[in-house]
Amino acid sequence: AAAPLATIASLSQHEGQTITLRGWLYNLRASGKLLFPIFRDGTGTIQGIVPKAAVSEEVFETLKNLTLESSLTVTGKVRADSRAPSGYELDVESIEVLQRVPEDTPFPITLKEHGVDFLMEHRHLWLRTPRQSAILRVRATIMRAAAEHFDTNGFIRTDPPILTPNACEGTSELFEMDYFDDDKAYLTQSGQLYIEATALALGKVYSFGPTFRAEKSKTRRHLTEFWMIEPEVAFLELDGLMNLAEGFITHIVTRVLESHRTDLKVIGKDIAKLEAVVGTFPRLSYDEAHAMLDEAHKAGKIEAPHKYGDDFGSPDETYISSQFDKPVMIHRYPAAFKAFYMQPDPLDPTKALCVDVLAPEGYGEIIGGSQRIDSYDLLKSRIEEHHLPLDAFQWYLDLRKYGSVPHAGFGMGIERAVAWICGLDHVRETIPFARTLNRIYP
Ligand code: 4AD
Ligand code: MG
Repeated sequence: AAAPLATIASLSQHEGQTITLRGWLYNLRASGKLLFPIFRDGTGTIQGIVPKAAVSEEVFETLKNLTLESSLTVTGKVRADSRAPSGYELDVESIEVLQRVPEDTPFPITLKEHGVDFLMEHRHLWLRTPRQSAILRVRATIMRAAAEHFDTNGFIRTDPPILTPNACEGTSELFEMDYFDDDKAYLTQSGQLYIEATALALGKVYSFGPTFRAEKSKTRRHLTEFWMIEPEVAFLELDGLMNLAEGFITHIVTRVLESHRTDLKVIGKDIAKLEAVVGTFPRLSYDEAHAMLDEAHKAGKIEAPHKYGDDFGSPDETYISSQFDKPVMIHRYPAAFKAFYMQPDPLDPTKALCVDVLAPEGYGEIIGGSQRIDSYDLLKSRIEEHHLPLDAFQWYLDLRKYGSVPHAGFGMGIERAVAWICGLDHVRETIPFARTLNRIYP
């Protein structure tokens, strides 16, 4: 009888059995009459052991000459081995090659170091390497856990349109396109304005989808296409919003720790740093954060002084977040450089009732959110002050005309969260195919 099919991730259920794996040849070492192929199947990697004396001449020769990333099915006996990364090794019995990678066009990604441009140019193949695959598995869990947190807490998912008639986060970063005859449409920067409408219909809602920003800057935090999850809640104010963000992030980190310890090790993340992320997060006002930077500058800990009234730069955020081992929530920024829709603080109207969550280890902003202006007149004058087209925002103003209530929400960029949780230098590795200022291939 044919051996049962198994996956590398499920080998613990097959110890001592002969099973068949379907996958690819990831690596091959030969040492005299012994071959050590490493197979991968999408769920993990496992090393095989092939002594010349234990297999037929044909199996030995086939494997010995096999090119990397050739597709195959391999049958063998699962043996526990505490030294193996997966905990198991495979005593190979037979092998069948599905497609042999031609000798003269070897798989371009080898175990030696490659430059970033080369890897990005071959992203469709780079994805197969263990570290990149592990990152994508963690990403999937982060996305699932994020949605699950809202699904299990009474939120209704309401997806906003991708093609929009107006800007949400500022006109400078819009992707514009023709929309029939004389109309223009823009790729959405955030679903927020639309889910404010669904929140007033359904109470607690969220959206989850791709968002677009024509970011002209090359940084390790910016993509032109990224995924954002955004909750929006009627009758919620700033303190409640911060509680929501705290519970949300704690849930995501808990889920990742539950099922990705092996992946995190492959990626090289210090797991203890993630384990510290539970419970309540520090909350600092903009003024307090500024004072912290001021002191750090006077003590020579940061080079450039932070100017009161300005936004925090990347080095500022890095310094602040490195002072805590948990995400830190900074609230009440000056309204002057924040979005037009943010509710002013009644105690100091120059400040907005908003919050940014900065991830630890210097990762900077992963969440931005706020309470929204609920007064018709104030919102109308803000739209005018920001030189936004009133007619395009008429529907949005309607929300303040028909039963306006305090409401609040935030957005978390999935890629920023993946970069922090996996400990990656750059967001380009957090998404299968990154879109940036200078790359749209593959
Ligand atoms: O702070 P932002 O601009 O806030 C909004 O878009 C609000 N409308 C969200 C809301 O309140 N519903 O963006 C939210 C998050 C950022 O904190 C960051 O994680 C991510 O989106 N983000 C980006 N991620 C990758 N590349 C970019 N260019 C990003 N711009 C924002
Ligand atoms: Mg922001």
